[in-house]
Amino acid sequence: MTMRLLPWLLTVTCLLFCAREAIAAPPRPYAFNGKSMCLSRRSNRLRSVEEVGPMVRRHKLAVEAKYGIGHAKNQKRASGMNLITNQGADASYFGSLAVGTPPVSFDVILDTGSSDLWIAAGGTTADIPSGICTFSPSSSSSFRDLNTTFLIEYGSGAAEGSLAEDTVQMAGFKVASQVFAVVDEVSDGALSAPVSGLMGLGWQQISSSGATPFWEALAETNDTLTEPLFAFQLTRYSNASEVWSLEPGGTFTLGATNASLYKGDIDYQDIPSGQVGYWMQEISAITVNGNSISLASGSSYAAIDTGTTLLGGPQAIIAEIYAQIPGSEAGTGDLDGYYLYPCDSPATVTLKFGSSSIAWPISTTDFQYMSASSDGNMCIGSLHVIDNAGTTAPPWVIGDTFLKNVYSVFRYDPPSVGFAVLSETALKMNGATGSAPSPTIGSVAASLSAIPTRVNTDRSNSGSATFGYGAGTSFLTCAAVAVAAAFLL
Ligand SMILES: *[C@@H]1O[C@H](CO)[C@@H](O)[C@H](O)[C@H]1NC(C)=O
Ligand SMILES: *[C@@H]1O[C@H](CO)[C@@H](O)[C@H](O)[C@H]1NC(C)=O
Ligand SMILES: *[C@@H]1O[C@H](CO)[C@@H](O)[C@H](O)[C@H]1NC(C)=O
Ligand SMILES: *[C@@H]1O[C@H](CO)[C@@H](O)[C@H](O)[C@H]1NC(C)=O
Repeated sequence: MTMRLLPWLLTVTCLLFCAREAIAAPPRPYAFNGKSMCLSRRSNRLRSVEEVGPMVRRHKLAVEAKYGIGHAKNQKRASGMNLITNQGADASYFGSLAVGTPPVSFDVILDTGSSDLWIAAGGTTADIPSGICTFSPSSSSSFRDLNTTFLIEYGSGAAEGSLAEDTVQMAGFKVASQVFAVVDEVSDGALSAPVSGLMGLGWQQISSSGATPFWEALAETNDTLTEPLFAFQLTRYSNASEVWSLEPGGTFTLGATNASLYKGDIDYQDIPSGQVGYWMQEISAITVNGNSISLASGSSYAAIDTGTTLLGGPQAIIAEIYAQIPGSEAGTGDLDGYYLYPCDSPATVTLKFGSSSIAWPISTTDFQYMSASSDGNMCIGSLHVIDNAGTTAPPWVIGDTFLKNVYSVFRYDPPSVGFAVLSETALKMNGATGSAPSPTIGSVAASLSAIPTRVNTDRSNSGSATFGYGAGTSFLTCAAVAVAAAFLL
């Protein structure tokens, strides 16, 4: 994730309160009830399959259900969803999860561009901006301190704390002993209330802690998720007539895709060999207003990153893109690395990935980042220069500027990223008035008790799974008062 440019000028006062929210109990597993049978003498004749077939079958199903095997094993594969929130007119997108025993819910940025989960914690020595709900380790009976320091640095910020393990629930799934960081120091602007942290949805290979990310722990057990993938539909409010700081953000689905949100096929392209870590794609073609931009082959790896607002790429190619727009010019000073162009001649940029024949367009609305002058003549483009020299980061980062235009799917096996055309249902959510969703943790459909992942080891030892339908789950909501969060931009 890169830090957002929108400053949150409002000083928020936050009264924390916890509301108990009961979630309906899901069905309990079948259990034998210990009834005894009267024994009676039976005739010795052999009974036919027709006669006993249904009984035999019922018996087998009951045993399987009790032990969670056979048909029941497949039944317990599950998917879940989380309604997400659009913060700051498409600046970032967050969802909710719950941590600890009893579970307490927090809002977290959903970031496919990093792989650590961290949550701000309170305490007297903590340096967390006021108005942010914080996690309290002492309130969770399942909390375990790993006594290991944690530091993650993003494009222009950092979060620091220590590693711990606790139960984490999200989108109807639960992972016991999930490693995450309890953060007591964040750089300025890294968190805007009500967000308390960040859920990294990248691969373990790039996690700072070395821990297996939540989504990957579920995907790698191979029989928890209906399909080994997760998907996003992200809303657009940047051109809505009125934008509140928090708006409905779209849908995050774990373990399935949601057919009501896209149409046609999902076009999957493999993560290039050896590049698993980021959700990497190779850009194979770029056009600007129909003209092709030349790309040196092998130099166009891009991280597909829901946690980044805009779209960054190498200097030479970004310059070539703006060279196709008459009247555009490179920004200077604070705008170094950005380009200005006449607002009334926006560009249509398309991107192709891997071996796909589909050119995915970025709408002219998303191409425009913001107005650069008070007369409204010049605008700042959403495509800007990033310099990855001397780092392991890819040359391109493709953020929400692009992802708002597609339904995006992040697949574990085979490792790939898929895009599809948004459905009318999904498009109708753009700019629609509505209140931002409240935390949706979902009742637990499947849970995973992983063998604690050792920190800084490879992902081969991340555990066995046991499954069970959770008994009626309830969780506490840690929420800032609504007035602090809802104001017109
Ligand atoms: C962390 O340190 C505390 C206090 O020294 C100790 O009680 C606890 O067992 C340690 N945890 C681990 C996982 O080593
Ligand atoms: C995962 O499950 C699928 C279908 O049940 C099977 O084909 C595949 O081989 C399994 N993969 C692993 C790594 O166990
Ligand atoms: C699909 O997404 C829509 C819109 O967010 C939601 O209302 C619906 O419940 C989702 N369906 C499933 C099966 O998750
Ligand atoms: C916002 O932008 C999208 C994409 O360009 C466009 O389809 C939509 O009509 C725009 N909405 C408004 C209110 O201008």
